[in-house]
Formats: sequence, structure tokens, C-alpha cells
Amino acid sequence: MTDRRFSDLNQFLRNLKPSKIFFLCDENTHQHCIPELLQNLETEIPFEILEIEAGETQKTIETATRIWEIFAEFETDRNALLANVGGGVITDLGGFSASTFKRGIKFIHIPTTLLAMCDSSIGGKTGIDLHFFKNIIGTFALPEQIFVYPDFLKTLPFEELRSGFAEMLKHGLIADAEHWEHLISLDEISAENIAPLIEHSGNIKQSIVNQDFKEQNIRKILNFGHSIGHAVESLFLKNETPILHGEAVALGMICETRLAVLENLISEDIGNYIIKNIQKYFPHISITDFSDEQILSLMMNDKKNIGGKINFSLINGIGTCLFNEYCSPENVLSALDFYRNNAAIL
Ligand SMILES: NC(=O)c1ccc[n+]([C@@H]2O[C@H](COP(=O)([O-])OP(=O)(O)OC[C@H]3O[C@@H](n4cnc5c(N)ncnc54)[C@H](O)[C@@H]3O)[C@@H](O)[C@H]2O)c1
Ligand SMILES: [Zn+2]
Repeated sequence: MTDRRFSDLNQFLRNLKPSKIFFLCDENTHQHCIPELLQNLETEIPFEILEIEAGETQKTIETATRIWEIFAEFETDRNALLANVGGGVITDLGGFSASTFKRGIKFIHIPTTLLAMCDSSIGGKTGIDLHFFKNIIGTFALPEQIFVYPDFLKTLPFEELRSGFAEMLKHGLIADAEHWEHLISLDEISAENIAPLIEHSGNIKQSIVNQDFKEQNIRKILNFGHSIGHAVESLFLKNETPILHGEAVALGMICETRLAVLENLISEDIGNYIIKNIQKYFPHISITDFSDEQILSLMMNDKKNIGGKINFSLINGIGTCLFNEYCSPENVLSALDFYRNNAAIL
């Protein structure tokens, strides 16, 4: 474990002097991350550990209420600090709970999944789900600081690591061709291979967010792969066979890359090159159980669509992306057909 990084956290706590610290974790990060953290913690400040069950199903108002109740039981004041130790579920839920209790107490993120390290802990979006509507309730609220310790990735299951890798690929595709090339040159996705690239990937997201915090314009490019990805993710969730967010994003990026070809934003050769490289890491997921109507209707309901056309963020080259690209349902269906019929581009 990198002592220098933990000394950043200790120094931060010495400066902030919170009245109390709550560490929010799930059962897995309690087991794998909290012991290491506490061993290295140098502070006299009283602390509590709040553990929730692992998984997206916990990102609800009920869990947030439980957290608020515990804050209230401890007579938490506005000088308390919530430290979110976990993946995107913990950072979204913890950020939401802290930003709403007494109109906002301070919080920090100590992300423990790759997805949280390079994506969900950055940019100040907090949220919980309402039934099948993901992240539909939430706030924009920034953590005091984010502490990234890549060593935590050593206990993360491979599929979870790969899920975060999809968002890193996205950062390269939308804004940084060199980052993309670097990522696709890795022969395998491992914590060791990825650790040196995390900071840069996070910086790409951070610099986009800095230009447009409330997602009025350029921040929308971070949604590349997510329009189709989210629709498919929701359908798998409704079928009670959930797939990981990054797996859905990889699928979505393949379809939306094809869509960019159909919209004449990139050549077929570049499109195939991108798709082939995503497929190198992400095996085909069958979507034959879902009809065109089911997938389209999830995307058509979005209020950002105009005149029957669907609003996408689409790459127009490797490392560059457009937003508010309105596409016809016919092209979207053609991109979905392409995915269904092309198990792999060789
Ligand atoms: N706010 C944002 O901008 C933003 C962006 C992207 C995703 N998200 C949200 O993030 C969530 C997904 O995040 P996630 O993929 O990190 O999921 P997650 O938080 O559910 O973590 C995935 C799994 O890994 C386990 N885990 C975490 N760290 C571990 C470690 N070091 N060792 C072993 N196991 C560990 C967790 O217990 C969980 O079972 C979704 O709810 C999504 O909506 C938010
Ligand atoms: Zn995402």
C-alpha cells in the first residue's frame, strides 16, 4: 500500500479537523479496503463505520434514509465528514446523503473500483435510483477531495476492472487519441497495467467537467456509448439478469460507433478499427431477447429528442466527439442490427 498517498489523507484530516468522521463502505470494501485504511489512519478524531450491502439495489432512498437517521442519532453537525470508501454505488449514494443532510455536510471520496477512480468520483454528480430509473434523484455536489489508491484494485474481480476500463476507453475515444492508443496496446487488463493510466483518464473527465459543470453543452460528450448502453442496461435489469455498467457501455460504444459511420461522421475503416479493438476486451453480449421497439422506446422518451429524431453524442474521429447529434430511428435500428449480426469483426 502506498504510504505517501495515505499521508495525503492524514494531512487533509489534520487541516480540516472535522468534528467526526463517518466511513461509508459496503460489505466488500469493509473487508478488503477498510482494514488497510484504518491501519494507516493517524487521527484522534472519533469515527464510525457505516456498512451497507453491496450492489446497485442499495442505491435507494431507503438506504439514504438509514444514513440520515444514523447522522441524526449521532447528533452530527455540519463540521462532520463523510468518507465514501467504495465503488460508484458508495460514491453516488454517499455524495447524495451528505449533500442533502442539513443542506450539506462535507464529504470525500476514496474510490475502490476502477470505475469510481476514473469516472464516478469525478464531476460532482451524486444520485440514487427510483425503481428502474437510474440516477433519477440526485444533486450536483463536489467532494472536498478525492483520494485515489490504485492498490485497492488488487482485490477487485476482473469483470469489475474491465467495466471501469470501458469508461477509460470512452475517455480516449471522445477526447484523447493517444490515451486510446495506449489503452488498446495493453495485452491484458490487469491492475498493474492499468494503474499508471488512471490519473490521466480521470484528468480527461475532469477537464471536460471543468468546462461545463451542469452539462449544458460539452459535458454531454461523456454520454458517448450511453444512450444505447443505458437502454440495454435497463432491459437486462428488468429481466433480472443485470450486466455491469461498463459492459453495457462497451456494447453501446460499438453500436454508437457504427451509428457514427452511418451518419457519415467517421469512415467505415475507422469505425471497424474502433469496434475491433473494443471487441478485443469485451465479448459479445446477446441482445436478441430485446426487440427494436423495446430498445427504441427507452431512447425515444427522452425529452432532449426533437421531431422523432434521437439525440446522441457521437465521435467524429478518434479523440473527438460531437454532442446534440440528432439521428433517425432507422439508422439507430441499423446500428443495432449490425451489433446483432456481427459477433466479431475480424
Ligand atoms: N456519478 C457519476 O458521475 C457516475 C459515473 C459513472 C457511474 N456511476 C455509478 O456508479 C455505479 C457503478 O459503480 P461501480 O462499478 O464502482 O459499482 P459498485 O460500487 O457496485 O462496485 C462493484 C462491486 O465491487 C465491489 N468492490 C468495490 N471495491 C472493491 C475492492 N477494492 N475489492 C473487491 N471488491 C470491491 C463492490 O462491493 C461491488 O460488489 C452505478 O450506480 C453508476 O450509476 C456514477
Ligand atoms: Zn458510464
